[in-house]
Amino acid sequence: MKNLPIGVFDSGMGGISVLKEIKKLMPNEDYIYYGDSKNIPYGKKTKDELEKICIDIGDYFVYRGVKSIVIACNTATSAVVDKFRNRYNIPIIGIEPALKPAVETYGSGKIVVLATEVTLKEEKFNSLMDKYKNEAEIIKVPAPRLVTIVENGITKGIEAEEAIKNLFEGININEISSVVLGCTHYIFLKDAIKKVLGENINLVDGGFGTAHNLKNILSSIDMLSDNDTDGCVEIVNSSEDESKIGLSYKLLNI
Ligand code: DGL
Repeated sequence: MKNLPIGVFDSGMGGISVLKEIKKLMPNEDYIYYGDSKNIPYGKKTKDELEKICIDIGDYFVYRGVKSIVIACNTATSAVVDKFRNRYNIPIIGIEPALKPAVETYGSGKIVVLATEVTLKEEKFNSLMDKYKNEAEIIKVPAPRLVTIVENGITKGIEAEEAIKNLFEGININEISSVVLGCTHYIFLKDAIKKVLGENINLVDGGFGTAHNLKNILSSIDMLSDNDTDGCVEIVNSSEDESKIGLSYKLLNI
């Protein structure tokens, strides 16, 4: 049981950024990464559509015999994490916009949360936001274009920088204390965001926290792998476009 793989999924390339953190922390585990590029963008789907799509992926992981599932997608987590926990008898780890660390570490000033429309609209994020609304000024900014850019394999350059610049029009950059990257695709754009907003801007994301959460949970039930060699990563993608697999491995290794 201990040495079964861990299933990680997202709507496409974004979750690879989370897998990288997980793999850094637990290099001896085996992973199956499922990129659902056929159904991207999750950020424009209804909750019912997301439930159906994600349960198919969850069932696939169970069929493949994973020991845990990581929903490496803020959008899918907000829509299906409870459903997953009721349906599957293995640890389910989700990711949410890292608002808590942003407020606790960079408190005063404006906190910009970049995420998909679904994440920003769902109850999960709004109740998180309610908790902190008296401590910081939180500005929600949907950024669907950044998902498309990363999904096409672009992580830097003019196109990315222009798209980022557009998002911050009307926001005084000097008043921002931090930017929460509330979508796993955006994590690949950290350098481009710094180029636009300045080297000193504080960027916060949930990848590291999710990796630690997964490790703690597996450790608490004695399910960490006892392999003493590097594990492997199998990448599966729902799209017919075969280049998605190559792009996934490329992003995993940058
Ligand atoms: N990567 C996903 C997230 O973290 C969403 C991308 C999409 O819209 O499909 O929310």
